[in-house]
Order: sequence, then structure tokens, then C-alpha cells
Amino acid sequence: MASPLVDKEYLKEIEKARCDLRALIYSRSCAPLMLRLAWHDAGTYDAKTKTGGPNGSIRTEEEYSHGSNNGLKKAIDFCEEVKSKHPRISYADLYQLAGVVAVELTGGPTIDFSPGRKDSKISPKEGRLPDAKRGAPHLREKFYRMGLSDKDIVALSGGHTLGRAHLERSGFDGPWTKEPLQFDNSYFVELLNGESEGLLKLPTDAALVEDPEFRKYVDLYAKDEDAFFRDYAESHKKLSELGFAPISSSTKTAKDSTILAQGAVGVAVAAAVVILGYLYEAKKRLK
Ligand code: HEM
Repeated sequence: MASPLVDKEYLKEIEKARCDLRALIYSRSCAPLMLRLAWHDAGTYDAKTKTGGPNGSIRTEEEYSHGSNNGLKKAIDFCEEVKSKHPRISYADLYQLAGVVAVELTGGPTIDFSPGRKDSKISPKEGRLPDAKRGAPHLREKFYRMGLSDKDIVALSGGHTLGRAHLERSGFDGPWTKEPLQFDNSYFVELLNGESEGLLKLPTDAALVEDPEFRKYVDLYAKDEDAFFRDYAESHKKLSELGFAPISSSTKTAKDSTILAQGAVGVAVAAAVVILGYLYEAKKRLK
């Protein structure tokens, strides 16, 4: 079902906001923080009760004050600059779009984005996001609750190819990779690298190497960046759409083909005008 929020104007605003987010993220070098914002808004989803998820509730003081969200108020304020230029766009869409743009801008895969998420101000209770000090069973408990799989857990953890931990925010310190502003598969390469000097490995990162099911994907992504990009784009889209049913792809395809057809007619008419003009000029010169 198409969301009542999304019409032609809304789609235009989304494209404008995408450009504004690109400029903002580029000029402030805040891609990692924006990706973390998108993940923390979405990662509270509970598939059983259908609560939490990418609904913009992280903008409430109650939620951004949760310990796990330390530092994210800055990203919320950055997004407010874009929201004030495009007030129709929901916060929920804006935060997820920021995550998608952050990945693309740093060299990661293109992630399909469907708009139409509704905003909520209901903050889930603290403790829905994973705790970095725990192991594989805890990761499974948190991600399965969202309705995500082992493959999603490993692929999405590759988001730590970007950014760093800050002592004053999480108690951990340092980046996971040597180039924390470049989205690539180096997170997995470093994970298998044993003791990489100066690089961070959270207990939850180590769990991906130690657990045999997780390890299969770590090995694959470390040696095959294309496989990582393909799976990451798929898992990121899932994460960004938890509890949200976007416009179905068949509707979208039908709409797209109408637009394409209209475009083709436009091009044909323009070409005919140019040709007729040329013939007219040529005829005049012959006279
Ligand atoms: C698997 C469970 C996860 C745990 C336990 C975890 C934990 C953490 C911690 C402790 C930090 C450091 C925060 C700070 O001190 O600034 C962090 C940062 C970050 N996380 Fe995660 N994370 C997880 C999954 C994810 C996922 C799924 C993504 C995105 C797809 C993600 C993206 C990021 C990014 C980009 C940063 C860097 C932020 C910055 O540089 O400011 N994380 N994460």
C-alpha cells in the first residue's frame, strides 16, 4: 500500500533533501555519525509488538538521552537544518535518508530508498540496542527481535568500516579501520588480522570471528568486497524499513514505466521539433 504521505511533491522534496544531505555530510565530515543515527533510530524495532523502529522517535529528549545514544544529539541537530528546508519530509525518512547518503558518499554501495515512514514521539524503553560488551547470544537476541538474520548481523556490523568510538561517549576509543571515512570491506580484513595495532575490536566484533555461523560471512566479506557490498545494501535496506511497508515494487515499476514512457514521448517530440526546424532552415537556404 502506498503511504498517504508520499505524492509527487514529496518525492521531489526527498531528492532535494538528498542533495542537501550530501552537501552537509561532505562539509562536516559526519558520515559515520549520520549512519549511527539511522541505525539507532531503526535498531529499536521489536517485531512482536511492532514498536520502535525507524520512526524518528530518537529526536525525543527521552530517547536521545539513553546511554547508547551518547553523541547523537549532534547528528539530530544537523538533520534539523535539512528538515527546516523541507518540512514535509518526516524525521523518520530524513534520518534513514541520511544513513543511505552517508554510505554512498564514503564509497559504499547504493542503497535503495523508499520514502513514506511515519513519525512517532513514543520512545521505546532503554536497552533495545545491543551492548558492545556482550557476545554472540546477545547479538542474536537483539537482532532476531528485530526480525533480522545472522547474515544481516555480520553484514550490518561492517558499518564499523566507518567512524570511531569516543571514550566520553561509549567508554571505548579509536577507529576499527585505518581509513574511517572510507566505506569498504576493511572492517572484516582487520577483524581477521588478529592484533591490528591501534585499531578497535569490541567484544561484539570479536564474537563475529569466534562464532562459526558468523565467521562464514566474515571470511567471505574479507575476501570478496562485492559480496559484502551486495549483502550490506540488502541488509541496510531491511534495517531501514523495519515495521514499514513501502510502496510495493509493482506499483513503483508501473509508475516508473509511465514516467519513462512520458520521458520517451518528450524526447521524441523534442527530436521532431529539432529535425523539422533543421529541414525548414535547409529548405529556406535552398530557395
Ligand atoms: C552489532 C552491534 C553493534 C554494537 C554493539 C555497536 C557499538 C558501537 C559503539 C560502542 C560505538 C562507539 C560510539 C562512540 O563512542 O562514539 C559505535 C559506533 C558506530 N557504530 Fe556501531 N554498534 C553495532 C552495530 C552497528 C551497526 C549495525 C551500524 C551501521 C550499520 C553501526 C554503525 C556505527 C558507526 C558508523 C559508528 C561510528 C560513529 C562515529 O564515528 O561517531 N554500528 N558502535
